[in-house]
Amino acid sequence: VSPKPLSGKKVLVTAGGTVERIDPVRYITNDSSGKMGFAIAEAARDRGAEVTLICGRMEAEVPHGVKIVKVDSATSMYDAVMDRLANTDLVVKAAAVADYRPASQATHKMKKTSETFTLQLVRNPDILQAIGEWRVAQPDGAKPFIIGFAAETNDVEKHALDKLQRKKCDLIVANNVTEAGAGFGTETNIVSVYGPKGLVEQLPQMSKRAVAERLLEIAQAVIGEQNRK
Ligand code: C5P
Repeated sequence: VSPKPLSGKKVLVTAGGTVERIDPVRYITNDSSGKMGFAIAEAARDRGAEVTLICGRMEAEVPHGVKIVKVDSATSMYDAVMDRLANTDLVVKAAAVADYRPASQATHKMKKTSETFTLQLVRNPDILQAIGEWRVAQPDGAKPFIIGFAAETNDVEKHALDKLQRKKCDLIVANNVTEAGAGFGTETNIVSVYGPKGLVEQLPQMSKRAVAERLLEIAQAVIGEQNRK
């Protein structure tokens, strides 16, 4: 029996949405279902990888056979990811991370007092960018291989390539979330995969699991090429 393609590899996947608390009973989140990240975790597991899935709020049922780490806020996801990077071969950031969090979290339920209310938000760390920067700072700068996602509503290619450069990833998986059959909550997705030189592959509408399988094949091919250089 030939070994599975990812056997011995450590894969870190983030999935779901982050939860940014306002007070003990209220929070800010987003529509991420976690399904795309879960499909990647399952596909990597079935290819023999040791998978850690860091998940925020999600609707889908968590996969079995992978290590689950539950987090809530972007900062807790940041800590969970950064702690594990030294021991990771491939990281896939499919989570929908909130860009901002409330500047402070009230200890008690906030009361309505005035007619208008302003909530001050502060920027969250960009986890994907931090992973890219962490890798650049390593002696060999080779690991982990980094895959990011980009949910866009317009100028998909331009924004995807911009994110790839800025966040120093190897591949960006872009989807136009305005298309039917793509994006949040759906069973299928329609994505284009970009590398540093531009479009690598445009996939038709596929189940999220099929997208995950193809994405891992592409990643393995690119890693193979990098190793030959
Ligand atoms: O939100 P944005 O479009 O920049 O997300 C693109 C990629 O960056 C996604 O892979 C997402 O998980 C990641 N990201 C992150 N930390 C953030 C914002 C986004 O890791 N604060």
